[in-house]
Amino acid sequence: MMNKTNFLIICLLVSTAAIAQKSTYKEQYRPQIHFSPPAHWMNDPNGMVFYKGTYHLFYQYYPKATVWGPMHWGHATSADMIHWKNQPVALYPDSLGLIFSGSAVVDYNNTSGLGKNGQPPLVAIFTHHDQAKEKDGKNDTENESIAYSNDEGKTWHKYDHNPVLKNPGISDFRDPNVNWYEAGKKWIMTLATRDRITFYSSPNLKEWKKESEFGEHLGAHGGVWECPDLFQITANDGKKLWVLIVNINPGGPNSGSATQYFVGNFDGNAFRPLNNDTRWIDSGTDEYAGVTWHNTGNRHVFLGWMSNWEYATTVPTQVWRSANTVPRELKLVNIDHNYYVTSEPVKELNSLRTTTIDLKSLNVKGERNLTKLIKRSDNQYELKFSSKQLKSFSVTLSNKDGEQLIIGFDAAENSWYIDRTKAGVSDFNKNFAKRMVSKRIANDPGTDVTLIVDVASVELFADKGSIVMTAIFFPKKPYTDLAVSSKGGFDMSSVTYSPLKSIWP
Ligand code: FRU
Repeated sequence: MMNKTNFLIICLLVSTAAIAQKSTYKEQYRPQIHFSPPAHWMNDPNGMVFYKGTYHLFYQYYPKATVWGPMHWGHATSADMIHWKNQPVALYPDSLGLIFSGSAVVDYNNTSGLGKNGQPPLVAIFTHHDQAKEKDGKNDTENESIAYSNDEGKTWHKYDHNPVLKNPGISDFRDPNVNWYEAGKKWIMTLATRDRITFYSSPNLKEWKKESEFGEHLGAHGGVWECPDLFQITANDGKKLWVLIVNINPGGPNSGSATQYFVGNFDGNAFRPLNNDTRWIDSGTDEYAGVTWHNTGNRHVFLGWMSNWEYATTVPTQVWRSANTVPRELKLVNIDHNYYVTSEPVKELNSLRTTTIDLKSLNVKGERNLTKLIKRSDNQYELKFSSKQLKSFSVTLSNKDGEQLIIGFDAAENSWYIDRTKAGVSDFNKNFAKRMVSKRIANDPGTDVTLIVDVASVELFADKGSIVMTAIFFPKKPYTDLAVSSKGGFDMSSVTYSPLKSIWP
């Protein structure tokens, strides 16, 4: 006879299978041009690495529910970072703990000795988080471990002697991001250690030595530092500098989770910043845990989780929870003797355009409804324009029920903003319905704007990508109308509207 436990297990399996079966990528609020897992919970992107023509995306995944739970690494692959093929789970929790965030590298020189048949291994470096120790109130719950693949990322083996870096007694000690430091012929691990970054180095990915600490008194400190990234980049004036990305939760510019960065120099031992102010890669509410792809040469492609820990587990999606941002190409730009990181959607996204409707110039005074002009029928599209003279204006997405999302610029505040106070369902969190703002950085008279709109998200790129804001929203019915307004008048030029094809078959 079946006992109670077996019965419960069978019920759980049946309901899990039912959820998986129902996943069609056509559900209400399902992103059509952004990656989301077929079913269940996702948070941070992990182990992003390009190898032999394939972009690998791993992610924090709980395959049994639509809320956070014991973490696995989910896996998807792509030839263009836009269209994704879901792959089997890559890493499962084990006796050392849950599999928290981390990175992956191609060990070309086989420094780890984990390669096979003359082929370099892919090595994932991640945090093992021990929940039992956490329950006991211990500090050393997080340790760094490695896993390797000898078949181009299809299957993964955990290293026999994990962990490779033991916790020295710091309660937040996680999210290793490892890169090869060519000048010193060693691996550098950038690790989030509570309120600062700690750098470690290794000849072989197995033995790690502490190099230095950074940031205890710099940047934003409204929350815990998480998910860092470090890379060298050539600025638009030819200067070679380093960018250190540090995610923080809470403490973001519009509340909750966000991604800050520092620009400076790194010499294999320490990072020395050029800026003392706090800078954000994306100052909307819904980009977090963003880091860049490894092994993409001089290209720095950034991808974030499109949510916020304030409400990620309660957003009104069924079947799955959370998506990623569009991949974005990062550049370093000298603006008034300060170096800023700018972002633009990767050019690969252009392949989703079905047509481009050229609206040429629009002189807006009052409100101008574009719905008929663009023959709107799709929920996902790109709207682009520029202007020789930036003035207060707004773009409104709305439906016949009066739900509306407003994106715009306020000249008096000198700020870009996204207002989702009346955007739709918001009762799942008291902080959700809000207007988010971001101070302008550029001081050119003109501007350029790209809006990437999906079923339940908007990404604003303005002023050559020095302003980026991401926001998610949940209208009861799709927004069918698109309008631009400006009380004082605003001249837009090169206005184009391009519907985008769904990335899912
Ligand atoms: C960031 C984070 C990481 C951690 C992971 C756990 O969102 O808290 O610091 O590794 O999520 O899922």
